[in-house]
Amino acid sequence: MDGNGRWAAENGLSRAEGHRRGAERIEEIIELCKDRGVKFITLYAFSDENWNRPSDEVLALMQLLRHFLVSKRGGMVEKGVRFRVIGDVERLPAELQKDIKETQELTKGGDRITMIVALSYGSRQEILRAVNGLIQKGVGEVTQEIFDEALDTADFPDPDLLIRTSGEFRISNFMLWQLAYTELYFTHTLWPDFDEAELEKAIVSYSQRERRFGMTSEQVK
Ligand code: IPE
Ligand code: MG
Repeated sequence: MDGNGRWAAENGLSRAEGHRRGAERIEEIIELCKDRGVKFITLYAFSDENWNRPSDEVLALMQLLRHFLVSKRGGMVEKGVRFRVIGDVERLPAELQKDIKETQELTKGGDRITMIVALSYGSRQEILRAVNGLIQKGVGEVTQEIFDEALDTADFPDPDLLIRTSGEFRISNFMLWQLAYTELYFTHTLWPDFDEAELEKAIVSYSQRERRFGMTSEQVK
């Protein structure tokens, strides 16, 4: 969900306000995805590297996350949204960890869509956590299946589509393992402007791709 800061600057607002407007986009996008039959959506909200931002911005983001969880979780339950988090959760403030636990517990029966929020998330760090966990368990030989199970995303399928907003053409340490066969979509639109029409464009683009998974066109037809 990139571009909150630039959106704020363009509109003469603070970065914190940009993040607030960005957070306001989430509910509608989840609803639209759910209506389209999407079963899993991951939102990259705060990266491991984002800890290096100025402390007032980090604090504003942590407060916003708490506010988002507490104000939205009732609606999540009503709408059948299951909430989950991936990332190094233990680095987050204790109160936020508590809100996350409560929200996950409260929404665990949600069967319409799973909303996964990547918080304090970095893919390289996730991979190393998984590897060290396997070493500690004494696992001798690792298969793709064993490795998948050791990642934060163990309960979720690999993404079909990745959308990156704000005109940046990079992966930025997001799901490096899981994205092996994901379709990539990049748009110049800043996240706070990402609306139904923008989502539609991304889905149309995705629907025109031929996913061959290394095979020939004839094989997958
Ligand atoms: C939001 O956008 C992503 C978060 C880290 C919360 P940015 O804050 O990266 O916005 P830009 O890149 O400065 O425009
Ligand atoms: Mg950015």
